[in-house]
Amino acid sequence: MTLENNNSVIFSNNLASDVNALLQGVSSEQLFILTDTQTQQYCLPLLQSEGALQQAKVYTMPNGDDHKTIETVVDIWKFMGENGGTRHSMLINIGGGVVTDLGGFVANTFKRGIRFINIPTTLLSMVDAAVGGKTGINFNGLKNEIGVINPAQNVIIHSDFLKSLDTQNLLSGYAEMLKHGLLSSRNEMARLSSFDATRPDYALLASLIETSVQIKADIVAQDPTEKGIRKALNLGHTIGHAFESYSHATGRPILHGYAVAWGLIGELFLSHKVQGFPQDVMLDTIRFIKENYGVFEITCNDYPALYEYMAHDKKNAAAGEVNFTLLKDVGDIVPNCIVEKELIFQALDFYRDSVGL
Ligand code: GLY
Repeated sequence: MTLENNNSVIFSNNLASDVNALLQGVSSEQLFILTDTQTQQYCLPLLQSEGALQQAKVYTMPNGDDHKTIETVVDIWKFMGENGGTRHSMLINIGGGVVTDLGGFVANTFKRGIRFINIPTTLLSMVDAAVGGKTGINFNGLKNEIGVINPAQNVIIHSDFLKSLDTQNLLSGYAEMLKHGLLSSRNEMARLSSFDATRPDYALLASLIETSVQIKADIVAQDPTEKGIRKALNLGHTIGHAFESYSHATGRPILHGYAVAWGLIGELFLSHKVQGFPQDVMLDTIRFIKENYGVFEITCNDYPALYEYMAHDKKNAAAGEVNFTLLKDVGDIVPNCIVEKELIFQALDFYRDSVGL
């Protein structure tokens, strides 16, 4: 599958040999691997089981979003500089979204930019973070505040890694796949709704991932720097990010994909109200979300705080306006919809009704 700038996504059944095949012309002294403590233990041995990668210099960062910082970046820049890194070096990022986002930023800035390969190990990073060139770190209390958009030379998806992923993290990534389905076709939504995350059919999942990545890649290819149609990928995220931030602020953190799934409920309601999105698809999608994701508890007393998060979302073009990507129908995308506070509160009422609060 070809991405923007002729870069490609490779769906791999033999990870080490497929990666080694991409390293022609890179000397083994110039190979660096970035991973985190969790991935180092479970996934790195497979990558280093043969070929030049056995000699690569490995930097292992601590696990988790708290370490997606400039301090970690500085430490990796130093590690590469002190271990013979040059502008001909290559960085291989193997891990979840924190590793691929931060490692992409390191690679895009070290010696003004070196080549990098992303090997996502979670579903969320396979279908979203690792693809599309967004790289960066958290800064000054804000998520992904500093970064650049420049894609990996290759993204290698080895879906066997998902066999050891827990159900919650599987569902977290799956929410982004639901979003891609809504941006694509009714046929894809029907396929996505047939998946049972509690007893995963991994062959079906691999095929769903391939389509999902293609949907994202097609959108990114049209608008790599998010001036227009790429904003479609924010579907579910305006309300979703508010839920996510609020969950952390109130000490009951939720996974990103769960926040997106619940955000989709509110944003499908807005799509129905403002753009006439069909009710049957909205209700089918909500049924799937309710059955799989449960609820994030809120009352109407939480609405003002949630609204404040939406009003300060960095995707808004002007202060005081909340900007949504909505849908007229599955695959019929309407970016830049400004929605009034009163209707957003109705969407939160609808969310609570839908999940039984
Ligand atoms: N995660 C949304 C995007 O890559 O644009």
